[in-house]
Amino acid sequence: MELTNITGLKGEVTVPGDKSISHRCVMFGSIAKGITEIQNFLEGADCLATISCFRSLGIEIEKNGTSVLIRGKGLHGLTAPSNLLDVGNSGTTTRLISGILAGQPFDSKISGDSSLNSRPMKRIMEPLTQMGANISSILRNGCAPLYITPGHLHGIHYHTPVASAQVKSCILLAGLYADGETSVTEASLSRNHTELMLQEFGADIHSFLDAGSTKATAVIRPCEELYGQKITVPGDISSAAYFIAAGLLVPDSEILIKEIGVNPTRAGLLEVCQDMGGDITLLNQHTVAGEPVADILVRTSRLHGITIEGKIIPALIDEIPIIAVMAAMADGITIIRDAAELKVKESDRIETVTDNLKSMGCNIIPTDDGMIIHGGKPLHGSTIHTLLDHRIAMAFSIAALVAEGTTKILDSHCVDVSFPSFYDTFENLL
Ligand code: S3P
Repeated sequence: MELTNITGLKGEVTVPGDKSISHRCVMFGSIAKGITEIQNFLEGADCLATISCFRSLGIEIEKNGTSVLIRGKGLHGLTAPSNLLDVGNSGTTTRLISGILAGQPFDSKISGDSSLNSRPMKRIMEPLTQMGANISSILRNGCAPLYITPGHLHGIHYHTPVASAQVKSCILLAGLYADGETSVTEASLSRNHTELMLQEFGADIHSFLDAGSTKATAVIRPCEELYGQKITVPGDISSAAYFIAAGLLVPDSEILIKEIGVNPTRAGLLEVCQDMGGDITLLNQHTVAGEPVADILVRTSRLHGITIEGKIIPALIDEIPIIAVMAAMADGITIIRDAAELKVKESDRIETVTDNLKSMGCNIIPTDDGMIIHGGKPLHGSTIHTLLDHRIAMAFSIAALVAEGTTKILDSHCVDVSFPSFYDTFENLL
Protein backbone atom coordinates (compact mmCIF):
# COMPACT_ATOMS: atom_id res chain seq x y z
CA MET A 1 0.00 0.00 0.00
CA GLU A 2 1.37 3.44 -0.95
CA LEU A 3 0.05 6.57 0.73
CA THR A 4 0.73 10.31 0.48
CA ASN A 5 -0.23 13.29 2.60
CA ILE A 6 -3.72 14.80 2.49
CA THR A 7 -5.80 17.54 4.09
CA GLY A 8 -9.43 17.99 5.09
CA LEU A 9 -10.80 14.66 6.33
CA LYS A 10 -14.51 15.37 6.93
CA GLY A 11 -17.53 13.26 7.72
CA GLU A 12 -18.85 10.35 9.76
CA VAL A 13 -17.40 6.88 10.08
CA THR A 14 -18.24 3.69 11.88
CA VAL A 15 -15.58 1.13 12.71
CA PRO A 16 -16.05 -2.64 13.13
CA GLY A 17 -17.10 -4.25 16.39
CA ASP A 18 -14.74 -4.50 19.33
CA LYS A 19 -12.21 -7.33 19.00
CA SER A 20 -12.00 -8.19 22.70
CA ILE A 21 -15.79 -8.23 23.09
CA SER A 22 -16.36 -10.22 19.86
CA HIS A 23 -14.01 -12.99 21.06
CA ARG A 24 -15.72 -13.17 24.41
CA CYS A 25 -19.27 -13.33 22.97
CA VAL A 26 -18.34 -16.42 20.95
CA MET A 27 -16.53 -18.12 23.81
CA PHE A 28 -19.15 -17.44 26.47
CA GLY A 29 -22.03 -18.17 24.06
CA SER A 30 -20.46 -21.54 23.26
CA ILE A 31 -20.30 -22.61 26.92
CA ALA A 32 -23.70 -21.11 27.77
CA LYS A 33 -27.00 -22.97 27.49
CA GLY A 34 -29.24 -21.88 24.63
CA ILE A 35 -28.89 -19.37 21.88
CA THR A 36 -26.56 -16.38 21.86
CA GLU A 37 -27.22 -13.79 19.16
CA ILE A 38 -24.45 -11.34 18.33
CA GLN A 39 -24.81 -8.20 16.22
CA ASN A 40 -21.89 -6.15 14.88
CA PHE A 41 -19.44 -9.01 15.37
CA LEU A 42 -15.90 -8.22 14.18
CA GLU A 43 -15.16 -10.19 11.02
CA GLY A 44 -11.40 -9.89 11.57
CA ALA A 45 -9.11 -12.89 11.22
CA ASP A 46 -8.55 -13.16 15.00
CA CYS A 47 -12.24 -13.42 15.88
CA LEU A 48 -12.90 -15.77 12.95
CA ALA A 49 -10.21 -18.01 14.44
CA THR A 50 -12.19 -18.09 17.70
CA ILE A 51 -15.35 -19.13 15.81
CA SER A 52 -13.48 -21.85 13.99
CA CYS A 53 -11.99 -23.21 17.25
CA PHE A 54 -15.42 -23.46 18.90
CA ARG A 55 -16.88 -25.13 15.79
CA SER A 56 -14.07 -27.70 16.17
CA LEU A 57 -15.21 -28.15 19.77
CA GLY A 58 -18.66 -29.21 18.56
CA ILE A 59 -20.56 -25.90 18.73
CA GLU A 60 -22.92 -24.92 15.90
CA ILE A 61 -22.21 -21.32 14.94
CA GLU A 62 -24.06 -19.60 12.08
CA LYS A 63 -22.49 -16.44 10.68
CA ASN A 64 -24.19 -14.07 8.32
CA GLY A 65 -21.94 -11.04 7.84
CA THR A 66 -21.62 -9.37 11.21
CA SER A 67 -24.55 -11.32 12.72
CA VAL A 68 -23.62 -14.50 14.54
CA LEU A 69 -25.87 -17.09 16.13
CA ILE A 70 -24.40 -19.61 18.54
CA ARG A 71 -26.23 -22.74 19.70
CA GLY A 72 -24.50 -23.05 23.07
CA LYS A 73 -24.36 -26.46 24.72
CA GLY A 74 -23.76 -25.38 28.31
CA LEU A 75 -20.69 -25.45 30.54
CA HIS A 76 -20.11 -29.17 29.93
CA GLY A 77 -21.22 -29.41 26.29
CA LEU A 78 -17.94 -29.04 24.38
CA THR A 79 -16.63 -32.14 22.61
CA ALA A 80 -13.07 -33.25 21.80
CA PRO A 81 -11.62 -31.61 18.68
CA SER A 82 -10.44 -34.03 16.01
CA ASN A 83 -7.55 -31.75 15.03
CA LEU A 84 -5.19 -29.20 16.49
CA LEU A 85 -7.02 -25.90 17.27
CA ASP A 86 -5.59 -23.21 14.96
CA VAL A 87 -5.64 -19.80 16.66
CA GLY A 88 -3.82 -17.96 13.84
CA ASN A 89 -2.34 -14.69 15.08
CA SER A 90 -4.64 -14.36 18.09
CA GLY A 91 -3.22 -14.13 21.60
CA THR A 92 -6.68 -13.52 23.04
CA THR A 93 -8.04 -16.76 21.52
CA THR A 94 -5.05 -18.73 22.80
CA ARG A 95 -5.06 -17.49 26.36
CA LEU A 96 -8.81 -17.44 26.96
CA ILE A 97 -9.57 -20.77 25.30
CA SER A 98 -6.79 -22.37 27.38
CA GLY A 99 -8.71 -21.48 30.55
CA ILE A 100 -11.82 -23.17 29.18
CA LEU A 101 -9.98 -26.22 27.82
CA ALA A 102 -8.20 -26.77 31.15
CA GLY A 103 -11.60 -27.67 32.60
CA GLN A 104 -12.64 -30.17 29.89
CA PRO A 105 -12.57 -33.99 30.12
CA PHE A 106 -10.66 -34.34 26.81
CA ASP A 107 -7.24 -33.56 25.33
CA SER A 108 -6.60 -30.57 23.06
CA LYS A 109 -3.71 -28.95 21.24
CA ILE A 110 -3.51 -25.27 20.36
CA SER A 111 -1.17 -23.67 17.83
CA GLY A 112 -0.95 -20.50 15.75
CA ASP A 113 1.25 -18.63 13.28
CA SER A 114 4.94 -17.98 13.90
CA SER A 115 4.31 -14.68 15.72
CA LEU A 116 1.72 -16.27 18.02
CA ASN A 117 3.92 -19.31 18.65
CA SER A 118 6.70 -17.05 19.91
CA ARG A 119 4.57 -15.13 22.43
CA PRO A 120 4.86 -15.97 26.16
CA MET A 121 2.39 -18.54 27.49
CA LYS A 122 4.07 -19.26 30.86
CA ARG A 123 1.95 -16.41 32.19
CA ILE A 124 -1.12 -18.66 31.80
CA MET A 125 0.59 -22.03 32.26
CA GLU A 126 1.75 -21.11 35.77
CA PRO A 127 -1.61 -20.13 37.29
CA LEU A 128 -3.47 -22.90 35.44
CA THR A 129 -0.96 -25.44 36.77
CA GLN A 130 -1.46 -24.06 40.29
CA MET A 131 -5.18 -24.71 39.78
CA GLY A 132 -4.46 -28.36 38.97
CA ALA A 133 -4.58 -28.09 35.17
CA ASN A 134 -2.35 -30.17 32.90
CA ILE A 135 -0.98 -27.74 30.34
CA SER A 136 2.39 -27.92 28.66
CA SER A 137 4.37 -26.19 25.95
CA ILE A 138 5.00 -28.92 23.36
CA LEU A 139 8.41 -27.49 22.38
CA ARG A 140 9.21 -26.77 26.08
CA ASN A 141 9.93 -23.13 25.26
CA GLY A 142 7.06 -21.58 27.23
CA CYS A 143 5.14 -20.86 24.01
CA ALA A 144 2.44 -22.49 21.90
CA PRO A 145 1.87 -25.13 20.57
CA LEU A 146 0.19 -26.00 23.87
CA TYR A 147 -1.09 -29.40 24.96
CA ILE A 148 -3.89 -29.58 27.52
CA THR A 149 -5.14 -32.81 29.13
CA PRO A 150 -7.89 -33.24 31.76
CA GLY A 151 -7.14 -32.13 35.32
CA HIS A 152 -9.16 -31.56 38.48
CA LEU A 153 -9.29 -27.79 38.98
CA HIS A 154 -9.45 -26.06 42.34
CA GLY A 155 -9.85 -22.37 43.12
CA ILE A 156 -6.78 -20.19 43.69
CA HIS A 157 -6.13 -16.61 44.71
CA TYR A 158 -3.68 -15.32 42.16
CA HIS A 159 -1.69 -12.08 41.99
CA THR A 160 -0.74 -11.50 38.34
CA PRO A 161 2.80 -10.22 37.77
CA VAL A 162 1.50 -8.26 34.73
CA ALA A 163 -1.81 -6.42 34.38
CA SER A 164 -3.15 -8.53 31.52
CA ALA A 165 -6.82 -9.06 30.70
CA GLN A 166 -5.92 -12.19 28.79
CA VAL A 167 -4.25 -13.76 31.82
CA LYS A 168 -7.03 -12.60 34.14
CA SER A 169 -9.73 -13.93 31.80
CA CYS A 170 -7.97 -17.26 31.35
CA ILE A 171 -7.90 -17.84 35.12
CA LEU A 172 -11.50 -16.67 35.62
CA LEU A 173 -12.73 -19.00 32.86
CA ALA A 174 -10.86 -21.94 34.42
CA GLY A 175 -12.51 -20.81 37.67
CA LEU A 176 -15.90 -21.73 36.16
CA TYR A 177 -14.70 -25.36 36.24
CA ALA A 178 -12.96 -25.26 39.66
CA ASP A 179 -14.27 -26.73 42.89
CA GLY A 180 -14.13 -23.44 44.81
CA GLU A 181 -13.68 -19.69 44.60
CA THR A 182 -11.02 -18.25 42.28
CA SER A 183 -9.76 -14.69 42.42
CA VAL A 184 -7.29 -12.67 40.41
CA THR A 185 -5.61 -9.53 41.71
CA GLU A 186 -3.75 -7.23 39.34
CA ALA A 187 -1.60 -4.20 40.13
CA SER A 188 -3.87 -2.00 38.02
CA LEU A 189 -7.18 -2.82 36.39
CA SER A 190 -6.90 -4.25 32.86
CA ARG A 191 -9.87 -4.30 30.46
CA ASN A 192 -12.84 -5.79 32.31
CA HIS A 193 -15.02 -7.10 29.45
CA THR A 194 -14.84 -10.65 30.81
CA GLU A 195 -16.14 -9.61 34.22
CA LEU A 196 -18.96 -7.48 32.74
CA MET A 197 -20.02 -10.04 30.15
CA LEU A 198 -19.80 -13.14 32.35
CA GLN A 199 -22.12 -11.37 34.76
CA GLU A 200 -24.63 -10.85 31.90
CA PHE A 201 -24.38 -14.57 31.10
CA GLY A 202 -25.30 -15.37 34.74
CA ALA A 203 -21.92 -16.23 36.27
CA ASP A 204 -21.29 -15.71 39.98
CA ILE A 205 -18.61 -13.05 39.54
CA HIS A 206 -17.78 -9.74 41.15
CA SER A 207 -14.87 -7.33 41.24
CA PHE A 208 -13.57 -4.59 43.47
CA LEU A 209 -10.84 -1.97 43.64
CA ASP A 210 -8.49 -1.77 46.63
CA ALA A 211 -9.11 1.39 48.61
CA GLY A 212 -5.90 3.39 48.71
CA SER A 213 -4.05 1.58 45.90
CA THR A 214 -4.47 0.90 42.18
CA LYS A 215 -4.98 -2.85 42.77
CA ALA A 216 -8.06 -4.57 41.35
CA THR A 217 -9.50 -8.01 42.11
CA ALA A 218 -12.04 -10.15 40.28
CA VAL A 219 -13.67 -13.11 42.07
CA ILE A 220 -15.57 -16.00 40.45
CA ARG A 221 -17.36 -18.98 41.94
CA PRO A 222 -18.40 -22.03 39.95
CA CYS A 223 -22.06 -21.96 38.85
CA GLU A 224 -24.50 -24.52 37.41
CA GLU A 225 -24.82 -22.93 33.98
CA LEU A 226 -24.36 -19.76 31.92
CA TYR A 227 -27.30 -18.69 29.74
CA GLY A 228 -27.30 -17.45 26.12
CA GLN A 229 -27.60 -13.68 25.56
CA LYS A 230 -28.32 -11.12 22.86
CA ILE A 231 -25.34 -8.83 22.45
CA THR A 232 -24.63 -5.85 20.20
CA VAL A 233 -20.88 -5.34 20.05
CA PRO A 234 -19.84 -1.66 20.31
CA GLY A 235 -17.35 -0.18 17.81
CA ASP A 236 -13.76 -0.93 18.75
CA ILE A 237 -11.96 2.03 20.35
CA SER A 238 -8.67 0.45 19.30
CA SER A 239 -9.81 0.75 15.64
CA ALA A 240 -11.39 4.17 16.21
CA ALA A 241 -7.97 5.27 17.50
CA TYR A 242 -6.61 5.61 13.95
CA PHE A 243 -9.45 7.92 12.92
CA ILE A 244 -9.11 9.90 16.16
CA ALA A 245 -5.43 10.43 15.37
CA ALA A 246 -6.18 11.23 11.71
CA GLY A 247 -8.80 13.79 12.80
CA LEU A 248 -6.36 15.46 15.19
CA LEU A 249 -3.31 15.43 12.88
CA VAL A 250 -4.56 15.95 9.32
CA PRO A 251 -5.03 19.71 8.73
CA ASP A 252 -8.60 21.03 8.42
CA SER A 253 -10.34 17.84 9.57
CA GLU A 254 -13.54 17.13 11.50
CA ILE A 255 -14.57 13.50 11.99
CA LEU A 256 -17.47 11.96 13.90
CA ILE A 257 -16.80 8.33 14.84
CA LYS A 258 -20.08 6.65 15.77
CA GLU A 259 -21.01 4.08 18.46
CA ILE A 260 -17.62 3.43 20.03
CA GLY A 261 -17.12 1.47 23.26
CA VAL A 262 -15.63 3.87 25.81
CA ASN A 263 -15.25 1.52 28.78
CA PRO A 264 -12.77 3.36 31.06
CA THR A 265 -10.52 0.28 31.10
CA ARG A 266 -10.06 0.82 27.34
CA ALA A 267 -10.40 4.56 26.87
CA GLY A 268 -6.98 5.77 28.10
CA LEU A 269 -6.36 7.11 24.60
CA LEU A 270 -9.11 9.71 24.96
CA GLU A 271 -7.54 11.06 28.16
CA VAL A 272 -4.10 11.15 26.56
CA CYS A 273 -5.36 12.97 23.45
CA GLN A 274 -7.09 15.55 25.62
CA ASP A 275 -3.96 15.97 27.77
CA MET A 276 -1.96 16.51 24.56
CA GLY A 277 -4.33 19.34 23.63
CA GLY A 278 -6.65 17.37 21.32
CA ASP A 279 -10.13 18.71 20.54
CA ILE A 280 -12.24 15.64 21.34
CA THR A 281 -15.89 15.60 22.45
CA LEU A 282 -17.98 12.60 23.50
CA LEU A 283 -21.60 12.79 22.29
CA ASN A 284 -24.66 10.56 22.68
CA GLN A 285 -23.27 8.64 25.67
CA HIS A 286 -25.26 5.50 26.54
CA THR A 287 -24.81 1.91 27.72
CA VAL A 288 -25.09 -1.28 25.64
CA ALA A 289 -25.00 -4.65 27.47
CA GLY A 290 -23.18 -3.13 30.42
CA GLU A 291 -20.60 -1.37 28.22
CA PRO A 292 -20.47 2.45 27.93
CA VAL A 293 -20.76 3.66 24.32
CA ALA A 294 -20.47 7.14 22.72
CA ASP A 295 -19.93 9.00 19.45
CA ILE A 296 -16.52 10.71 19.31
CA LEU A 297 -16.13 14.07 17.58
CA VAL A 298 -12.55 15.00 16.67
CA ARG A 299 -11.20 18.21 15.15
CA THR A 300 -7.69 19.11 13.97
CA SER A 301 -5.61 20.27 16.93
CA ARG A 302 -2.12 21.43 17.78
CA LEU A 303 -0.73 18.73 20.09
CA HIS A 304 2.02 18.90 22.70
CA GLY A 305 4.10 16.16 24.31
CA ILE A 306 3.22 14.60 27.70
CA THR A 307 4.37 11.77 29.97
CA ILE A 308 2.30 8.57 29.82
CA GLU A 309 2.94 6.07 32.63
CA GLY A 310 1.49 4.03 35.48
CA LYS A 311 -2.05 2.78 35.78
CA ILE A 312 -3.29 4.28 32.51
CA ILE A 313 -0.97 2.01 30.49
CA PRO A 314 -3.26 -1.09 30.47
CA ALA A 315 -6.12 1.16 29.29
CA LEU A 316 -4.22 2.16 26.14
CA ILE A 317 -1.62 -0.58 25.59
CA ASP A 318 -2.83 -1.39 22.05
CA GLU A 319 -2.94 2.31 21.14
CA ILE A 320 0.72 3.06 21.91
CA PRO A 321 1.86 2.74 18.25
CA ILE A 322 -0.64 5.41 17.17
CA ILE A 323 0.08 7.53 20.26
CA ALA A 324 3.76 7.44 19.25
CA VAL A 325 2.81 8.74 15.80
CA MET A 326 0.82 11.59 17.41
CA ALA A 327 3.77 12.31 19.71
CA ALA A 328 6.09 12.56 16.69
CA MET A 329 3.84 15.31 15.32
CA ALA A 330 3.35 17.05 18.71
CA ASP A 331 5.46 19.92 20.02
CA GLY A 332 7.97 18.90 22.70
CA ILE A 333 8.84 15.60 24.33
CA THR A 334 6.58 12.63 24.99
CA ILE A 335 7.77 9.95 27.42
CA ILE A 336 6.08 6.54 27.53
CA ARG A 337 6.99 4.36 30.54
CA ASP A 338 5.77 1.20 32.30
CA ALA A 339 4.88 -0.38 28.96
CA ALA A 340 7.35 -3.31 28.73
CA GLU A 341 4.38 -5.46 27.62
CA LEU A 342 4.80 -3.83 24.19
CA LYS A 343 7.69 -6.23 23.61
CA VAL A 344 5.41 -9.29 23.61
CA LYS A 345 2.59 -8.11 21.37
CA GLU A 346 2.11 -9.19 17.71
CA SER A 347 5.58 -7.71 17.20
CA ASP A 348 8.06 -6.15 19.64
CA ARG A 349 6.27 -2.81 19.41
CA ILE A 350 9.03 -0.82 21.12
CA GLU A 351 11.30 -1.90 18.28
CA THR A 352 8.81 -1.74 15.39
CA VAL A 353 7.55 1.72 16.41
CA THR A 354 11.05 3.07 17.00
CA ASP A 355 12.59 1.70 13.80
CA ASN A 356 9.73 2.86 11.59
CA LEU A 357 9.39 6.33 13.15
CA LYS A 358 13.18 6.78 12.86
CA SER A 359 12.94 5.88 9.17
CA MET A 360 10.43 8.74 8.78
CA GLY A 361 12.87 11.22 10.35
CA CYS A 362 11.61 11.25 13.95
CA ASN A 363 13.97 11.63 16.87
CA ILE A 364 12.87 8.67 19.04
CA ILE A 365 14.79 6.70 21.66
CA PRO A 366 13.65 3.22 22.71
CA THR A 367 13.83 2.36 26.41
CA ASP A 368 13.34 -0.90 28.35
CA ASP A 369 9.71 -0.11 29.08
CA GLY A 370 8.67 2.42 26.48
CA MET A 371 10.14 5.24 24.40
CA ILE A 372 11.10 8.92 24.41
CA ILE A 373 9.90 10.92 21.42
CA HIS A 374 11.17 14.38 20.54
CA GLY A 375 8.23 15.63 18.49
CA GLY A 376 7.58 18.49 16.16
CA LYS A 377 10.03 17.69 13.37
CA PRO A 378 8.26 17.06 10.01
CA LEU A 379 8.02 13.38 9.05
CA HIS A 380 8.99 12.20 5.58
CA GLY A 381 7.74 9.21 3.62
CA SER A 382 9.62 5.91 3.92
CA THR A 383 9.11 2.16 3.67
CA ILE A 384 7.33 0.78 6.74
CA HIS A 385 8.21 -2.72 7.90
CA THR A 386 5.04 -3.88 9.65
CA LEU A 387 6.36 -7.36 10.54
CA LEU A 388 2.75 -8.40 9.84
CA ASP A 389 1.59 -6.49 12.93
CA HIS A 390 -1.86 -5.00 12.16
CA ARG A 391 -1.50 -2.10 14.61
CA ILE A 392 1.85 -1.08 13.12
CA ALA A 393 0.33 -1.09 9.60
CA MET A 394 -2.58 1.12 10.69
CA ALA A 395 -0.57 3.51 12.89
CA PHE A 396 1.95 4.15 10.11
CA SER A 397 -0.78 4.59 7.51
CA ILE A 398 -1.87 7.60 9.57
CA ALA A 399 1.73 8.80 9.82
CA ALA A 400 1.82 8.57 6.00
CA LEU A 401 -1.13 10.98 5.74
CA VAL A 402 0.91 13.72 7.44
CA ALA A 403 4.40 12.89 6.10
CA GLU A 404 6.02 14.65 3.15
CA GLY A 405 6.27 12.40 0.09
CA THR A 406 5.15 8.82 -0.34
CA THR A 407 5.09 6.11 2.31
CA LYS A 408 5.02 2.44 1.44
CA ILE A 409 3.39 0.12 3.99
CA LEU A 410 4.72 -3.42 3.51
CA ASP A 411 2.29 -6.32 4.07
CA SER A 412 -0.56 -3.87 4.64
CA HIS A 413 -3.04 -6.77 4.27
CA CYS A 414 -2.25 -7.64 7.91
CA VAL A 415 -4.89 -5.03 8.88
CA ASP A 416 -7.33 -7.95 8.23
CA VAL A 417 -6.51 -9.23 11.72
CA SER A 418 -8.69 -6.57 13.37
CA PHE A 419 -9.97 -4.13 10.72
CA PRO A 420 -10.38 -5.63 7.22
CA SER A 421 -12.17 -2.50 5.89
CA PHE A 422 -9.55 -0.09 7.29
CA TYR A 423 -8.42 1.43 3.98
CA ASP A 424 -11.97 1.54 2.51
CA THR A 425 -13.28 3.41 5.56
CA PHE A 426 -11.05 6.38 4.65
CA GLU A 427 -12.91 6.75 1.35
CA ASN A 428 -15.92 8.06 3.35
CA LEU A 429 -13.85 10.97 4.63
CA LEU A 430 -12.23 12.22 1.41
C1 S3P B 1 -6.81 -8.25 25.13
C2 S3P B 1 -5.94 -7.86 26.11
C3 S3P B 1 -4.68 -7.15 25.86
C4 S3P B 1 -4.64 -6.54 24.48
C5 S3P B 1 -5.13 -7.50 23.42
C6 S3P B 1 -6.56 -7.92 23.71
C7 S3P B 1 -8.05 -8.97 25.50
O1 S3P B 1 -3.60 -8.07 25.96
O2 S3P B 1 -3.33 -6.11 24.18
O3 S3P B 1 -5.08 -6.89 22.15
O4 S3P B 1 -8.97 -9.07 24.66
O5 S3P B 1 -8.13 -9.45 26.63
P1 S3P B 1 -2.91 -8.43 27.38
O6 S3P B 1 -3.92 -9.11 28.21
O7 S3P B 1 -1.77 -9.35 27.01
O8 S3P B 1 -2.44 -7.13 27.95
